[in-house]
Amino acid sequence: MTKTAFLGLGHYVPSKVVTNDDLAQMFDTSDEWIQKRTGIKERHYVEENGIGASDLAVPAVQMACKNAGIDVSEIDAIIFATLSPDHEFPGSGCFLNHKLGLGGIPALDVRNQCSGFLYGLQIADAWIRCGMYKRVALVGAEVHSTGLDFSDEGRDVTVLFGDGAACAILGPTEDEDAGLIDVEVHADGSGAKDLWIEAPSSSHMPRMTHEMIDNRAIWPAMNGRHVFRWATAKMPEVSRSVLERNGISVKDLDLVVPHQANKRINEFVAQKLEIPPDKVVHNIEKYGNTTAASIPLALSEAIQEGRAKKGDLVLMPAFGSGFTWGAALVRL
Ligand SMILES: CC(C)(COP(=O)(O)OP(=O)(O)OC[C@H]1O[C@@H](n2cnc3c(N)ncnc32)[C@H](O)[C@@H]1OP(=O)(O)O)[C@@H](O)C(=O)NCCC(=O)NCCS
Repeated sequence: MTKTAFLGLGHYVPSKVVTNDDLAQMFDTSDEWIQKRTGIKERHYVEENGIGASDLAVPAVQMACKNAGIDVSEIDAIIFATLSPDHEFPGSGCFLNHKLGLGGIPALDVRNQCSGFLYGLQIADAWIRCGMYKRVALVGAEVHSTGLDFSDEGRDVTVLFGDGAACAILGPTEDEDAGLIDVEVHADGSGAKDLWIEAPSSSHMPRMTHEMIDNRAIWPAMNGRHVFRWATAKMPEVSRSVLERNGISVKDLDLVVPHQANKRINEFVAQKLEIPPDKVVHNIEKYGNTTAASIPLALSEAIQEGRAKKGDLVLMPAFGSGFTWGAALVRL
């Protein structure tokens, strides 16, 4: 039976490192507050104007292709997950398609925030298993730094996010002992306004006004405690669901690569699932929350460092804006 294999992973972060102390120079926060509440020490930001999510994706895709042993020209479809697209339209997948010299192949944008990689994975898996495409580039890429409120009012959100990109090259395998085992995703729009950006909005005439800027409607807003409660409930719930459906016990897992939103959230999740801390991958201290890029970025690094290897059974749970959440189970 054909399954979907992770053929190669790649990642890229821009070179500019911004520490918690750097942020404390701009608004009222501290390294101690940020580390204690989130585990974040620093994050990366784009170096200059004119760099969008699709630009960060290019080197990530190139690295993923190299690790998959394929040429970029062999990619036959792009799925681009992001909450910070280069422009309102067209999708970042189209910009990436052109930058990679892949004009003609399909490019689909996925707008499911921190769960975007899992939503994209489910689509890629269906395409690959039905024989539609053979080399899918599943990308998660974000430039958050150009859309954050660097004032005291925005500090709760701004300290959390960083820029970065990652890519998984996915393709068919007949190997019974490798490949994607399952992926389950969910959404509940009752939480849509608990982590969102109000403007620009197609429900406003016009979509963007000076008043919106003055009222701070252009910056992300979050009900942090509510998000925290939902994340620590839904990530264990969906993880258990995927494990049970496939007859796999927590003890069988080699590694857990969770979405990196907050180290405390992931510690709670691991505790609830009774997963030993040394099996959980964290890199939030270096990158903050890179949203759609966070799971493939953490997995790519874990492979690069030799922490994740062929044959490992890996669980990847996520929760984010929408609300959206899910979990994937893969044998590398
Ligand atoms: C954001 C989060 C770290 C805040 O931690 P918290 O313990 O819930 O903190 P609170 O929001 O209750 O705020 C506590 C205090 O810290 C202050 N505070 C908020 N952000 C701050 C910052 N960056 N620096 C310093 N103080 C800050 C608040 O103003 C509040 O002050 P007050 O007690 O004087 O009113 C936490 O709620 C969280 O991680 N939520 C989930 C967020 C998330 O994962 N989002 C992405 C999902 S994909």
